[in-house]
Amino acid sequence: MGTPDQESRQASAYRYLPEMTVATALADNPAEHSPNQQLMPLTARVNALDHLEIGGCDVVALVQQFGSPLYVLDEVTLRTACRHYREAFRQYYPGESLVIYASKAWSCLAVCAIAHSEGLGMDVVSAGELITALQAGVNPKQIYLHGNNKSVQELQLAIESGCRIIVDNWYELQTLVNLGGEQPIPILLRLTPGIECHTHEYIRTGHLDSKFGFDPNQLDAVFQFVSQQPTLRCIGLHAHIGSQIFELQPHQDLGVVMAQWFVKAAHYGLPVQELSVGGGLGICYTEADDPPSIQAWVQVVATSVKTAFQAQGLTLPKLLSEPGRSLIGSACVTAYTVGSQKVVPDIRTYISVDGGMSDNPRPITYQSLYRALIANRLSAPHQTPVTIAGKHCESGDVLIKDALLPEKIQSGDILVVLATGAYNYSMASNYNRIPRPAAVVVKEGEANLILQRETWQDLLRQDRLPERLRSV
Ligand code: LLP
Repeated sequence: MGTPDQESRQASAYRYLPEMTVATALADNPAEHSPNQQLMPLTARVNALDHLEIGGCDVVALVQQFGSPLYVLDEVTLRTACRHYREAFRQYYPGESLVIYASKAWSCLAVCAIAHSEGLGMDVVSAGELITALQAGVNPKQIYLHGNNKSVQELQLAIESGCRIIVDNWYELQTLVNLGGEQPIPILLRLTPGIECHTHEYIRTGHLDSKFGFDPNQLDAVFQFVSQQPTLRCIGLHAHIGSQIFELQPHQDLGVVMAQWFVKAAHYGLPVQELSVGGGLGICYTEADDPPSIQAWVQVVATSVKTAFQAQGLTLPKLLSEPGRSLIGSACVTAYTVGSQKVVPDIRTYISVDGGMSDNPRPITYQSLYRALIANRLSAPHQTPVTIAGKHCESGDVLIKDALLPEKIQSGDILVVLATGAYNYSMASNYNRIPRPAAVVVKEGEANLILQRETWQDLLRQDRLPERLRSV
């Protein structure tokens, strides 16, 4: 807490922001808040200049130093989320557990290194994510390789590095049998649990009509086949039902289904000891979102697995979970600089920023909603509806329709979009040949570059111009 003067300044600055944000910004002990239930990073403050401060760094000053657009990652929020997961498993699950960061949410050396230093394993879905995790120092035994169409090279890399492979289908099983050597390859089998959940259809995976995992009708055949392969050692089962889920019931149901399948696997003599329940816990993108806390999610998952396994007379498995979004989503904001504006009389005002769908493809892909602030005038009432447009040649490149911002937006204002940590950088593209932004990690007033801004030279690096196409 600051002086009474600072406190009233903070309170007035946040008067126009959603209540949840106020609670976070004025919190005595941010570590008590579940990061996935916050719109802002836990260290977000307003400073004496009326600027947004994250991790003790003035976001406006960060843009001056590192340019824009800029991803600003708050280390405290990411570490707090990791700790909430680990501590909750310790509290609610009597057996062994491992939290595995789903690095598809944001894979880069610094993020993997932070998650690893908090004791998390790593879920990877490609050779690219795998080598990033390895280079960040993650123990290969705690790296789990996913994917519905892994290449032979990816499988070989996983085997040579000693990673766990989560086998998705018959083709992959057969490929692994062909690759097998003297040492049995440790694998987990991914099964489609047939559990529905309410989220965007593109990010649902647990229903039967999914491209991922073995169909439950085939379980006997799969278990029998695997049990006869001396080169494979099936150490566990895996399922993931979807992403950005607010319901707890599907996760509870999953424990029951998986316990039944463990019984079946044991019947075929498979040495299954690990159960992965995937990820999926949602976060707040707007004040209308109300996800359960990390602790509540873990409590349901752990209790359901414990109860279901005990009811079947099974020993408790090593319980793996694979959160991505709920670890890193709220830890990052993206700072843009406002450029042009267009007023369409009686319809809307477009405010254009210097990024858009290439650094955040979620609005155009999933119609995702976001919230924004003007970081250099935080106490100005954020009450005027405007539409925030990206700079790409596409009418759908709109980051936020009807965002509430201060009345007079000026070119040069720093606009911050909240909760951009998950599936933003990792899904970024060079559409329109726009270089990807830089990213910094902030902590206690220090900002460190973790991703260098791409340059125009980077864009041309892979281009080759055949001799016959060169103009003379
Ligand atoms: N495990 C598996 C096998 C997954 O497929 C996923 C996400 C996760 C774990 C992590 O789920 P999370 O805890 O992040 O919900 N691009 C989409 C999300 C795709 C999720 C893909 N799989 C988006 O931007 O919403």
